[in-house]
Amino acid sequence: MAIRNERFRCVRVARSDGERVRRALAEAGALQRDAVIQRDADHLYLPIKHGISIEESFPDLRAGIEYREFERRVEPSFEEILGFTPSYEVIGDIAIIDAEDSDEAGRIADAILLMHGNVSTIIAALTDVHGEFRVRDFRVIAGKPDTETVHKEYGCRYEVDLARVYFTPRLATERKRIADQVREDDVVVDMFAGVGPFSILAAKSARYVIAIDKNPVAIEYLQKNARLNSVNNIKILCGDVRDVASDLRDAADHIIMNLPHSAHEFLDCALTIIKPGGIIHYYDIRPEEDLFEGAQETIARAADMRGMTTRLLDKRVVRSYSPHRYNVALDVEICPRS
Ligand SMILES: C[S@@+](CC[C@H](N)C(=O)[O-])C[C@H]1O[C@@H](n2cnc3c(N)ncnc32)[C@H](O)[C@@H]1O
Repeated sequence: MAIRNERFRCVRVARSDGERVRRALAEAGALQRDAVIQRDADHLYLPIKHGISIEESFPDLRAGIEYREFERRVEPSFEEILGFTPSYEVIGDIAIIDAEDSDEAGRIADAILLMHGNVSTIIAALTDVHGEFRVRDFRVIAGKPDTETVHKEYGCRYEVDLARVYFTPRLATERKRIADQVREDDVVVDMFAGVGPFSILAAKSARYVIAIDKNPVAIEYLQKNARLNSVNNIKILCGDVRDVASDLRDAADHIIMNLPHSAHEFLDCALTIIKPGGIIHYYDIRPEEDLFEGAQETIARAADMRGMTTRLLDKRVVRSYSPHRYNVALDVEICPRS
């Protein structure tokens, strides 16, 4: 690997904000990952890729933009090794690739192992996320014949078995955004908790969290992860949220509904659990021509049928899901009709 100096635009941020901004820039594809981030006593300097305009997407960072010389680690690129750039995602020490063809999968695996010292296993996704438990089927291409790993995110560690539970690192910023809204007296209900990445981060701020999932394997990992992260204020419930949450009335200041394709089917349940003035964090998959309105109306209609009103506090695109479809989040306050 060679090192060379190169001038980049960069964002100057206070060190206390550094990790949050670095992650947001990386997720937006704006961070020049192979340039070495600089720091002084008060600030981090985060290099931005050439040709990327971040002013529109991150207007609050505008004041900190300047030019600097950075050290750039120049490694052989995927283009040079493979002739193309494969799409893949890293969770813990496992890289997930899309390739179906086994020759191509082997070449991609070799290239990823060469370029990522922290990756030890390559698996290929054979299906999309499917079924009630939202898992994918995988084939191990290289490395240890195992789909279990530990993923680090915002100071927490999550043990997962990717073949048996749902997990994506692409919601990391979203989980932090929700946890940042939780205050110390708040009760949070995570209706579709999986292995606990929303619950555990929120529990660090909340009075307590009630974390529910129907997948018993996810619940096992959630219990392990609560211990792994020394979080004691989580009540973990295994079962269909409609059954296990039936006696939770007016309990929650925040409800997390991260079951994007079907959350609307559980609004009745959420509206029973929410406290007056509480906030539902609602996730959906929406077409680009109607990103928010349809979901907003669905929530408003369900609330209206129960004599409640809604106020949209925030709405955002979390990530692209498939061509012309997006995973979106809506934060909606629920109040009794006066
Ligand atoms: C999209 S995953 C989200 C997991 C977690 N929130 C995360 O971000 O990793 C949805 C989860 O909901 C669970 N689930 C599906 N239907 C459910 C139901 N009726 N009651 C409780 N959990 C359910 C699945 O097992 C799965 O773990």
